[in-house]
Amino acid sequence: MKYIVVNTYEELSNKAADLIAAQILVKPNCVLGLATGSSPVGTYQRLIADNKAGKIDFSTVTSVNLDEYVGLDGSNDQSYRYFMNDNLFDHVNIDKAKTFVPNGCAADLAAEGKAYDEMIKELGGIDLQLLGIGLDGHIGFNEPDSVFTGPTHEVKLDESTIEANARFFQSKEEVPTTAITMGMLSIMQAKKVLLIANGAKKKAIVEKAFFGPIDPQVPASILQLHPDVTVIFSEN
Ligand code: F6R
Repeated sequence: MKYIVVNTYEELSNKAADLIAAQILVKPNCVLGLATGSSPVGTYQRLIADNKAGKIDFSTVTSVNLDEYVGLDGSNDQSYRYFMNDNLFDHVNIDKAKTFVPNGCAADLAAEGKAYDEMIKELGGIDLQLLGIGLDGHIGFNEPDSVFTGPTHEVKLDESTIEANARFFQSKEEVPTTAITMGMLSIMQAKKVLLIANGAKKKAIVEKAFFGPIDPQVPASILQLHPDVTVIFSEN
């Protein structure tokens, strides 16, 4: 594992964007695993700037996102599909038809999960998976549990996750209580993993996940078993 500590969110975002840009350079038709939330916003801004400056070409890139709230479709401004369009896809030359986000409105979420995993397999797997980390150690929406869950599946969100995500909604009551998330299998099968975390309040969970025991109560700790993980942490 490469554990990189930087001072500022800007440095974190620049380093993460450099890694993603390098991935696209060495494999222009790569599959990027992408995340939402506040952590990757700066990284996406740098990627947009680089794309506009002609330094990165997304035209042959495919993307697969980690997760989506159940019940929110892409037109809902709190959905993760909307977030991705707004924070990245609408501003770079990626082919939207090659950007995938789990469908949180699928009538049969178990079938949707199975189809999503199948699609990732058919794409040849994920070359580089970008991750944030929740205060409870979740990655994607894989919440603390008694076991690590493999396939893409429906999850009930923890109270702490609902509280943390309430900042994006008008009120806590509006935060969906369930989501569909890529499971540990697709994440662990990614060829490379890049986890970014910023802010003093994330320090304890990042240290627990990467320097503590591997424990499904700290979902991100499974990444200690991944052969190619880069963690970038900034206190600010
Ligand atoms: C988002 C996701 C989540 C977030 C995590 C951290 O697609 O899968 O695991 O990465 O909740 O969120 P932020 O970055 O908002 O602190």
